[in-house]
Amino acid sequence: MTTPRNIIVAPSILAGDFGDFARDAQRVEQGGGDWLHCDVMDGHFVPNITFGPDTIAAFRKATKLPLDVHLMIERPDQYAERFMDAGADHLIVHLEAAHDVAKTLAQIRVRGKSAGLAINPATPVEKAWPFLGQIDELLVMTVHPGFGGQAFLPEILPKIRALRSAVAEDLPIIVDGGINPETGRQCVEAGANVLVAGNSLFRHKTLNLVEAIAELRKHATD
Ligand code: DX5
Ligand code: ZN
Repeated sequence: MTTPRNIIVAPSILAGDFGDFARDAQRVEQGGGDWLHCDVMDGHFVPNITFGPDTIAAFRKATKLPLDVHLMIERPDQYAERFMDAGADHLIVHLEAAHDVAKTLAQIRVRGKSAGLAINPATPVEKAWPFLGQIDELLVMTVHPGFGGQAFLPEILPKIRALRSAVAEDLPIIVDGGINPETGRQCVEAGANVLVAGNSLFRHKTLNLVEAIAELRKHATD
């Protein structure tokens, strides 16, 4: 029996309309999303490029939702300040990027923002142990980072379990990649409580965004 946790749904704007981000940010807010997940990619850390601090500033104007900014960039230490100035509420950096992880997390916390650590599918959980006392959220990639619309990797579930047993009961564990009502529920059972979802919400075959958010939330705890 797992302890019931507050489920947070964080729609990923990566699956939104790049020509009309402001509208999609508002749709997420009105549609019952809890956080807006924003994927920043630099073409180095991952083989894809999305957007930078100016776009985060545009999201900041469009919505009051907390902006959950996931930096898939090689040098998060060099850009953290700019993303925080732009309005990021949570700044998530990768363990595998080329920076002093502890220093970057401290740089984020000193600004009063939530410091998040992300780990890739291939990274063993043990690598996260040294940083657990320094983070406000943990993001476990459930696909290889870089693109939306990939299939969930079920072999990550034991990692989620191991991390949940190592962190405080109330530390948010975010799962990101291939999350839909079924995989989301498996992750929640394993100990995650924040569900990032792009394609399953924005491009649902039959449900609109409001309905898809509600379905994901409901199924996670049924
Ligand atoms: C992938 C990104 C995800 C992405 C998830 O590198 O970090 O946030 O938007 O997209 P879906 O939910 O479509 O797998
Ligand atoms: Zn992400």
